[in-house]
Amino acid sequence: MNKSEIGLGCWQFGPSFGFWDGQDHLDSVRVLHKALRDNIRHFDTAASYGSGRSEQLLGHQIKRFANSIRREDLRIATKIMPKSPALVRKDVQKSLSRLCTPYLDILYLHWPSSSIELPPILEAMLQIKDEGLVRSLGLSNFPLSLLPSLSEYPISYLQSPCSLLWTKDIQSLRSYCTKHAIKLVGYSPLGLGLLNGKHLIAPDDSRKDLYVFTESSYSAYRDLYAILEGLSEKHQRPMAQIAIRWAMAQGFDVLLLGARNKTQLEENLAARSIELSGDECSALDRAASFLAVTIPSGQDNLFGHRW
Ligand SMILES: NC(=O)c1ccc[n+]([C@@H]2O[C@H](COP(=O)([O-])OP(=O)(O)OC[C@H]3O[C@@H](n4cnc5c(N)ncnc54)[C@H](OP(=O)(O)O)[C@@H]3O)[C@@H](O)[C@H]2O)c1
Repeated sequence: MNKSEIGLGCWQFGPSFGFWDGQDHLDSVRVLHKALRDNIRHFDTAASYGSGRSEQLLGHQIKRFANSIRREDLRIATKIMPKSPALVRKDVQKSLSRLCTPYLDILYLHWPSSSIELPPILEAMLQIKDEGLVRSLGLSNFPLSLLPSLSEYPISYLQSPCSLLWTKDIQSLRSYCTKHAIKLVGYSPLGLGLLNGKHLIAPDDSRKDLYVFTESSYSAYRDLYAILEGLSEKHQRPMAQIAIRWAMAQGFDVLLLGARNKTQLEENLAARSIELSGDECSALDRAASFLAVTIPSGQDNLFGHRW
């Protein structure tokens, strides 16, 4: 089973949109330090995560490691959603300042939009790249159907879910990215924490709105959950590790882990040492595809969101 490079997702450090409320600042700092000490070098954030707080925390903590980790050895990725091309430069400058860095390694357009024309925004992003403020451009949450229309832009990264909770189009996305030399970055290997062995979600937590809790999907979600529970017992490993190990084997270039505290990150990194058999992976693939067929028609991303 191949394994993707591990990156750290930094959304947790800037709770937003009803996700990760009550996150403790010191826990966030400890997660970041653990990641840096464990040789994780790819960090993923967004201007919208906590309205810049995630970028700020990442920037400040990375600065503290400046004597031991060279900037050029890090890959810092952020995402913007500028409402007009003129705002691209301002957004990038704000992100650079919060991240305490002279350049970004990856600048993503965070979401496709059904109301804003994207080519002029991509032109503006390209201009910033040509000036050297950004090394590579990426798209995040863009479904396969939108990619060909943007193929004239030098897109080097595509960020998409890599989770048993969302396997829709995963094979076609992989083939498209390989054909166009685009690196695939996978997020939410625990399905935003819904494959973590806890399952009960508080009423004010936005995860309750995900499609798996609708009447048509819930039993397929529970079936998948039961298989994960069985494998967790068999391997004597936490369920989260089984879900992450499956995700690591999906052929993505980078897999972003999300953790709210150091213990979660330690547990998730230990997924690298599990081996799942071919039969075990097939059982998970089957359950995930039964769940995928229950995705409401027309929904082309895990959040059911359009910007
Ligand atoms: N491009 C996008 O639109 C997009 C969307 C989503 C994510 N991302 C990126 O991808 C990163 C990773 O995604 P994600 O945060 O959704 O990852 P995830 O691994 O699916 O979920 C992380 C959550 O699962 C729970 N968890 C983590 N480890 C656990 C463990 N060992 N045991 C039990 N629970 C555990 C925690 O939440 P609780 O403790 O609250 O359950 C944690 O916040 C994000 O930080 C972000 O950078 C990007």
